[in-house]
Amino acid sequence: MEKWRALAVEAALSRAHSWILFAAVLLIASSALSIQFRRLDSSRWSIQRLEEDFVAGLSNDSISGFLLELTREPHVAGTPQNFHTARFVYESFQAAGIQTHYADFEVLLSYPLQRSLSLLLPNGSTLSLGLKEEAVEGDPSTSNPDVIPTFFPYVPSGTVCGEAVYANYGRAQDFETLRQRGVDVRGAVVLARIGKIFRGDIVANAAAAGAAAALVFSDPFDYAKNGTEGFYPSSQWLPPSGVQRGSVLLTSGDILTPGWPSTPNAERVDLSETKLPKILALPISAQDALPILAALGGEVAPADWQGGLRLPEYRLGRGPAKLNFSYEGNLTVTAIRNVIGMIKGSEEPDRYLLVGNHRDAWTFGGADPSSGTACLLEIARGFGKFLKQGWQPKRTLVFCSWDAEEYGLIGSTEWVEQNLDMLTARAIAYINVDRSVGGPNFDGCGTPQLDNLLMQVTKKVKDPNSVFKSVYDSWCALNRNATPIGRLGGSRSDFSSFLHRAGIPSYDLRYQTSFPVYHSLYDDYNWMKGFGDPLFQRHVAMSAIWGLLSIHFINDDIIPFDYSSYASVLEADVRTLKGLLPEDIDVTPLLRAISELQSAARQINAEASSSLKRRSLNDRLMLAERSFLDPMGLAQDPSSKHLIYGQTTSDLYGSQSFPGISLALANALAKMDKSTSSVLQHEIWKVARAITNAARVLSDNFH
Ligand SMILES: *[C@@H]1O[C@H](CO)[C@@H](O)[C@H](O)[C@H]1NC(C)=O
Ligand SMILES: *[C@@H]1O[C@H](CO)[C@@H](O)[C@H](O)[C@H]1NC(C)=O
Ligand SMILES: *[C@@H]1O[C@H](CO)[C@@H](O)[C@H](O)[C@H]1NC(C)=O
Ligand SMILES: *[C@@H]1O[C@H](CO)[C@@H](O)[C@H](O)[C@H]1NC(C)=O
Ligand SMILES: *[C@@H]1O[C@H](CO)[C@@H](O)[C@H](O)[C@H]1NC(C)=O
Repeated sequence: MEKWRALAVEAALSRAHSWILFAAVLLIASSALSIQFRRLDSSRWSIQRLEEDFVAGLSNDSISGFLLELTREPHVAGTPQNFHTARFVYESFQAAGIQTHYADFEVLLSYPLQRSLSLLLPNGSTLSLGLKEEAVEGDPSTSNPDVIPTFFPYVPSGTVCGEAVYANYGRAQDFETLRQRGVDVRGAVVLARIGKIFRGDIVANAAAAGAAAALVFSDPFDYAKNGTEGFYPSSQWLPPSGVQRGSVLLTSGDILTPGWPSTPNAERVDLSETKLPKILALPISAQDALPILAALGGEVAPADWQGGLRLPEYRLGRGPAKLNFSYEGNLTVTAIRNVIGMIKGSEEPDRYLLVGNHRDAWTFGGADPSSGTACLLEIARGFGKFLKQGWQPKRTLVFCSWDAEEYGLIGSTEWVEQNLDMLTARAIAYINVDRSVGGPNFDGCGTPQLDNLLMQVTKKVKDPNSVFKSVYDSWCALNRNATPIGRLGGSRSDFSSFLHRAGIPSYDLRYQTSFPVYHSLYDDYNWMKGFGDPLFQRHVAMSAIWGLLSIHFINDDIIPFDYSSYASVLEADVRTLKGLLPEDIDVTPLLRAISELQSAARQINAEASSSLKRRSLNDRLMLAERSFLDPMGLAQDPSSKHLIYGQTTSDLYGSQSFPGISLALANALAKMDKSTSSVLQHEIWKVARAITNAARVLSDNFH
């Protein structure tokens, strides 16, 4: 085009004068036109227009329609009903114009075959406990015969008969209290309530204390906080027969293929080499826990062990009542199905933003996880509308619908293992939304270089609960601390393999406060419509936040990471850590490394405003988080490789900073001698080196 114009000018010059004028007018007109077009074009797809159009296009009716379709049947991993939801997600992605495929694996799942529990009273009579969640009036889903019975997957089969002991929340300190009070837990059937730690840790603590079996119940104190009258369907609380199913595995991913993908012909380890739960265990309802607690003797339990059941008091036992408990389940290698959709980037197709949510549910998934799946489908529909108008993102956007999350983050873990090298080299960030709405309040967690973006975006989205406020305003008002953003050390959802294994910056977002019907029969569309989100406006807000965050990652010239905020967060964490450490332990290496990170972050933030070498600058931003990985993994769990954020040793869901240092510190405090304190100092050096490496990646310097 340019060449043709030049030739045209030359030719015109050699002709008559009037021709020169004519050619000049033509040239000016044509270049003005092309500038005009370009300007129109760029404003049509400017970030601001994209954001406005995306949010304006979201519809609560559409989201509610998706949720209704997804929650028609219970859809546990490995069942035909969950293959049906895979088909629905596949077709919805395709309808949006998104290139879609299935990513299948074959993994070890577990289903209940037989359960019985009876209470043997000292006077010789036997009470058989129902173990059944009762249907409620006005909600036909709750009488669906295909709902999976209440159980904990992967626990051993067998029969146990033993005296009952009450163990409060089943934490290590609760078993310690029992020991101090002389209550012998060995051979007993432990009854503990859920609510403070991951249920798998309760079962493991009971096993470690020598119990023969563990029963885990939902106390009304935690799950029906409205007396004995107010519960679903008259309020949001868990009915007395409600039970919280769920995984009790302390590992994530398929247990037969630890560290590699579970493709059909993959190597599989022997079951005997795996870390399955050691004792029989079952989740039970408040209604079934009541007669057990009523039949316990022994000391009155401490004040903070008392709960919400109608009893004069909770006692510790042991016995005199006994429990006769038998369980039979199967372990079976079963096909699961992730659905992956992709919108290719125009400028950097080999840079990925991933957005994901799991699809399998313990029952109907009204909130967990189908409220998230409904939002995933809504944002896919939103980007689909842009695609149809000729838009393409600069970078590739990948939609992920995971299977078998409920069994231990299996679908996402296997996929990350299968694609690890590509993800490590090319993934920018992962945005997880599990259950998007379980209650009224926004709750956002993420790695700290993503803090600023989350704050900016939540300021732009209207709070669905209030006319005048943004999501950000209400979120901050509820959390009086400086930053309301939580961290992602715990392994509570599918971000775990992305962050803890691949070092990919991640978010985990939800609306929630307490979500009492979690993993029960009552987590269905009708509950959501009645109590979780009656007008589906919280779903709209979540879709807006999820979509706007995505737009920035796939469209901003410079990836919106701020390592300066990472350095500040680390510095605050080190200050806290210092207060816990013995005096002879030196945190200077950490502080030095953090100040290197801080100056590298300032430098790259300054470069970002001027640099033309965007690709290399973006690569430095993208790769810095990878420096926080230790290829050897943490001492407590080698498959978890992140040195900054990891789960606490007492609770799989608990998040802590510097998990390696924390473990060494706990060991040092338990057995203070020279060798443990040198291990502790070594862990501090290790984290300091990782932070220095991140600073180097950011500042682009070989040393
Ligand atoms: C045994 O005790 C229970 C609970 O106190 C009572 O309901 C039941 O009737 C008693 N059975 C006999 C045979 O006394
Ligand atoms: C408590 O229960 C009553 C009666 O069912 C209901 O009207 C009220 O909304 C409930 N309150 C809460 C906080 O759940
Ligand atoms: C315990 O329950 C099993 C299965 O229901 C039954 O066969 C067994 O006789 C019971 N044992 C006792 C001691 O009641
Ligand atoms: C395991 O149990 C489930 C549910 O009853 C059943 O559908 C499946 O066929 C069983 N698998 C094996 C291998 O027994
Ligand atoms: C969507 O929002 C509008 C306006 O608030 C409301 O009238 C409508 O009932 C909502 N739709 C659903 C499915 O809740």
